[in-house]
Amino acid sequence: MEQDNKKYMENNISYDLNEQSLISPLDLGSPLFEPKIRLGVLASGNGSNFEYIIKSIQNNQLNAEISILIVNNPGCLAISKAIKYKIPYVIINHRDCQSRLEHDMLVMKKLDELSVELVIMAGWMRIVGEEIINGYKNRLINIHPSLLPSFKGVDAIQQAIDKRVTITGCTVHYVQKEVDSGSIIIQAAVPIKEQDSKETLKKRIQDMEHIILPLAIAKVAKNIRTGFKDNK
Ligand code: GRF
Repeated sequence: MEQDNKKYMENNISYDLNEQSLISPLDLGSPLFEPKIRLGVLASGNGSNFEYIIKSIQNNQLNAEISILIVNNPGCLAISKAIKYKIPYVIINHRDCQSRLEHDMLVMKKLDELSVELVIMAGWMRIVGEEIINGYKNRLINIHPSLLPSFKGVDAIQQAIDKRVTITGCTVHYVQKEVDSGSIIIQAAVPIKEQDSKETLKKRIQDMEHIILPLAIAKVAKNIRTGFKDNK
């Protein structure tokens, strides 16, 4: 009986642990810099990550200011969040540009005009060219819904489901030319449950994205202001 109890307890404990997600590395705290680090956010979609960056700043979990939200399509829901929180935004519609380069240059001009120090691709559904990548070396980061280097590219959550992995997650990484391939800054692991649908899994991954993206911003901000000492 005592043995059974022990087993039961152990099972209970492991069950509890399994409800949690792992974040690594977990550097809490955002160093205070004066003036605050100036962020530029690039978004194409719902803007939930954009909103959580704003909330982290409001809660004093992240010491930064958002200089601009840049969206590439007028229907992007991130715009309504910029309006709600009174963040400046601009629509730079790629459909109005003759080439990818022309669009990239317009984006970069706006970032430069505002002296943006760190650029965050928060659901930016466009591949950025070398001009932006080189112009913002070690200052351009992206969030991706998988544990990179697994499941790069589009529909990473479906890719993980199709491969029947039992743990997936999300990654914040520096952007380099090859898609979803730059150095990893922080990751969160998310278990895939048997009963998961793509939607339930996506929700749990996004919950973790909203936690790790502000942590990654704080980490990179520290690197920028201390001369990239921590960078690989
Ligand atoms: C996120 O899942 C992110 O990983 C991917 O695009 C999605 C953006 O979501 N790159 P949201 O627009 O921030 O809600």
